[in-house]
Amino acid sequence: MEAKGGAGWQVHLPPVSPGHPDPEGKKPGTSRVPPTSLPEEFHRMMGNWATGVTVVTSRGPHGPHGMTANAFLSVSLAPPLVLVSIGRDNDSHAIITASGRFAVSLLAEGQEALSVHFAQRFKDPAQAMAGIAWSPGPDGLPFIDGAIGHLACAVSDAFAAQDHTLFLARVTHVAAGANLPPLVYFHSTYTGLR
Ligand SMILES: Cc1cc2nc3c(=O)[nH]c(=O)nc-3n(C[C@H](O)[C@H](O)[C@H](O)COP(=O)(O)O)c2cc1C
Repeated sequence: MEAKGGAGWQVHLPPVSPGHPDPEGKKPGTSRVPPTSLPEEFHRMMGNWATGVTVVTSRGPHGPHGMTANAFLSVSLAPPLVLVSIGRDNDSHAIITASGRFAVSLLAEGQEALSVHFAQRFKDPAQAMAGIAWSPGPDGLPFIDGAIGHLACAVSDAFAAQDHTLFLARVTHVAAGANLPPLVYFHSTYTGLR
C-alpha cells in the first residue's frame, strides 16, 4: 500500500507480518517457543524505561484530533527533527498521513486524566477533543492547555515498521507552556519526578 502525504512525501507500507519471527526459523503456529514469551519479556523490560507522555494532535476531516504517545524522541537539533511512532490502525495515523502535519504537547505532572482520555479509541473521532481545553497553534493544530510545551511539526519522511509508522518531522514552531514538572510513565503507571 502506498499513501500520499499532504506535503508530497510518500509512505511505503508493506503488509503487516503475523507476529514476531520465530528464532528457530519455523513457520508461524509451529513454534515450540511459547508464542508470547519474547513479546511479554520485551513488554516487561520496556516497563523499566521511564518516559514522558505526549498528546500528538492533528487536524483531519472531523476537525481537531489527539492521541496519547510516548514513542516520541528528538532526533536532531539543527535542523530540529522529531520522530513519533504511530500504530497504523489509529485514527491519528490516517489524519497525519493525509495532512502531513501534527503537534506534540508535552504533558505536565497531574495531567494523567488527559493521557487516559487520549488513549481511548473514539467511535466518533469528532469526540476526541470534546470537553478538552486547547488552544490553536500554527495551521490550527491543537496545543493542549496546561502542558509544559508544544511543538508544531511537518512530516518529512515516514518509515513503515510492522504495524506502526515512524513519522520523522521537522519542528516548525515551538511554544513554551506551564512551568511544571513532566508527567512520567513507568511500569505502566503514571508518576512524576522525585
Ligand atoms: C502512556 C501511553 C503511551 C502511548 N504511546 C503510543 C505511541 O507512542 N504510539 C501509538 O501508536 N500509540 C500509543 N498509545 C496508544 C494510543 O494512545 C491509543 O491507541 C489511541 O486510542 C490512539 O488514538 P486514535 O486512534 O484516536 O489516533 C499509548 C497509550 C498510552 C496509555
